[in-house]
Amino acid sequence: MTATGQLVARAPEIERIDALLRAIPGGLEVLTIEGEPGIGKTAVWHEGVRRARAMGTSVLTARATAAERALTLTTLTDLFDPVGDEVLGRLPAPQRDALRTALLRTPQPAGATGRALPAAVLSLLRALALDGPLLIAVDDAQWVDPASARALSYALRRLDTEPIGVLAAVRGPAARAPAGDAARIDAAADVRRRTTVPLGPLSVAALHEIVKARTGRAIARPLMVRIAEACVGNPFFALEIAAELPPELPADGRLPLPPSLDEVLGTRLGRLPGRTREALTVCAVLAGPGPDLVDVGALEPAERAGIVVVEPGRVRFSHPLFAEAVWNRAGAAQLRRLHRRLADLVADPEQRARHLALASVTSDESVAVELDRASALARGRGAPQAAAELLELAVELTPPGAANPPVRRCVAAAQQWIDAGDLVRAQTLLERVLADGPAAPARGSALALLAQLH
Ligand SMILES: Nc1ncnc2c1ncn2[C@@H]1O[C@H](COP(=O)(O)OP(=O)(O)O)[C@@H](O)[C@H]1O
Ligand SMILES: [Mg+2]
Repeated sequence: MTATGQLVARAPEIERIDALLRAIPGGLEVLTIEGEPGIGKTAVWHEGVRRARAMGTSVLTARATAAERALTLTTLTDLFDPVGDEVLGRLPAPQRDALRTALLRTPQPAGATGRALPAAVLSLLRALALDGPLLIAVDDAQWVDPASARALSYALRRLDTEPIGVLAAVRGPAARAPAGDAARIDAAADVRRRTTVPLGPLSVAALHEIVKARTGRAIARPLMVRIAEACVGNPFFALEIAAELPPELPADGRLPLPPSLDEVLGTRLGRLPGRTREALTVCAVLAGPGPDLVDVGALEPAERAGIVVVEPGRVRFSHPLFAEAVWNRAGAAQLRRLHRRLADLVADPEQRARHLALASVTSDESVAVELDRASALARGRGAPQAAAELLELAVELTPPGAANPPVRRCVAAAQQWIDAGDLVRAQTLLERVLADGPAAPARGSALALLAQLH
């Protein structure tokens, strides 16, 4: 978007979104906007959301971030944030309770299994669609947390004539989600209902218009042609190059341009004071950090440089590429120190346990026990993958000779992988633990679970 919020070019892509919106009343339709970082996916996605709302379609939105992938059920929580408790009240009691627990709207009841969550998400989407066409709009879908992806995929595989559309923006095709296509919500629907719209490079004229609208500078055509070549039609990169141009521009376009986006970002970040970079690292590591967790004063130079936006109760990067550049530049020791500090600051027990694990260099039973507890909470919310991951972290941190031997945690983790539908991972884990020749009772449960998989 330009400073005035106007989308430049991309008319054919917008026509595809309009077609999606027109098709929703006829039943499930999924449209994926795919392209490299900075190419303009979010800009097109935003315009799609705006058009949907303008035509009276209800829209549920979520914008995933890299740090949020490790935050259990964040995407579902964001999507369903505007859905009031009275709508949840229309669902059968076990599904309503499962959703309320998953979305942290109620303390977790004893004995919660989370098993009803995927079915509850399906019922909720059906209930919402009874009120009229509905669009589920997810930006940066490659970062949807696994528990949300699992519940949404389950629902999308079962939706049919309900007037529901999905508009997903996703990085690709080179940088797919780490877990592959299975984790992509847009891949869950039947192939006949899915379309992918690739976003290619923008023209010199389009880039010129975007740079002019954003920076107020008109750049002579020879230089603009060189910028477009250097950034391969990528508007984010073009805007970054433009931000670095000297005040006086040579008309003939003769000016050294940065060879890569990473280099421009490195130069910009390198110019910020150390305190600011430290505060930015906190923001990158912590999804949606509130001003209470980060030194907002130290962030000021980054805010002035347009790298972060400080909103009431939340600090966010103006583009995820800034968060990634900051994260990639942080040293291992710095990250460990940071996780140690954040463990004491975050309120959520699962987040605390994950930070403690990431801060640990040696085995530590007290951290492993916190991870066990966090795993039980994740399981109760309906996030078996997260529960399994937390147990695997606990296994790594179990000291030799601990009262709770690693094999028991491995068997419990394997059970969670089974519940999450990842049988291969469960089998690999069980075979690995059996190869260590564990003692009697645990060996028996590992063998029994493995037998279920054959
Ligand atoms: N078609 C467009 N019109 C106006 N501005 C655009 C357009 N495409 C991208 N931009 C701007 O370029 C930058 C990168 O685009 P963005 O949508 O964030 O890319 P992506 O989501 O693919 O990483 C943003 O500042 C965005 O507002
Ligand atoms: Mg984006």
